[in-house]
Amino acid sequence: MEILQHIKSRRTVRRFKPDPIPQTVLDEMFEAAMWAPSPANSQPWDFYVIGPEARGKILGLLQAKAKEFFADPDLPEPKRKALEALQADFGGAPYMVAVVSRGGSEPMEQIEYPLSAATAVQNLCLAASAHDIGSIWLSVGSAPPVRPILGIKEGESVVALLALGYPEDVPPAPPREDYRTHMKEIP
Ligand SMILES: Cc1cc2nc3c(=O)[nH]c(=O)nc-3n(C[C@H](O)[C@H](O)[C@H](O)COP(=O)(O)O)c2cc1C
Repeated sequence: MEILQHIKSRRTVRRFKPDPIPQTVLDEMFEAAMWAPSPANSQPWDFYVIGPEARGKILGLLQAKAKEFFADPDLPEPKRKALEALQADFGGAPYMVAVVSRGGSEPMEQIEYPLSAATAVQNLCLAASAHDIGSIWLSVGSAPPVRPILGIKEGESVVALLALGYPEDVPPAPPREDYRTHMKEIP
């Protein structure tokens, strides 16, 4: 049951302390990511560590999107708060990385490579939370203008853009639905 407790305690964090993540912890996070399952053990993902130039450009995209959302008077308060925190330099996260799926040559690979890259992302986030490091999976990473910023080639896809660091504050856990309401019995 320890693993279930760990899974439940991972939290999306939107405001970070500036303290850097120690290299030993980064090593463990990426090692955990590599142990994700993948078709024929292809490990079809790469980690793009985001430097200040790319970070600034992606932040500009996020801020432009936030401006659009802020113009909506019906914007739910939690979303407004989340955007406010993130548009301030991604909540001050000291580390950002994109997990990029490699392009597959076969149709099945094209479907399954991003799926397995997503499991690598979850491994990475869980390994981080084992060291009290918070993470956020940022939707802006899926925006098409991010591709040229990161130099993504045709067939590859940005599976996740993550911001990571020690939390400035940890939000309460959003509740989950009962898994039984997500089950279908297939005869
Ligand atoms: C693909 C993906 C994209 C997400 N994008 C955003 C985002 O752009 N901004 C944000 O505040 N949270 C984002 N999240 C985080 C979710 O809001 C969060 O996972 C969810 O509310 C559940 O909270 P928890 O991760 O703390 O359990 C994203 C999560 C996923 C998986």
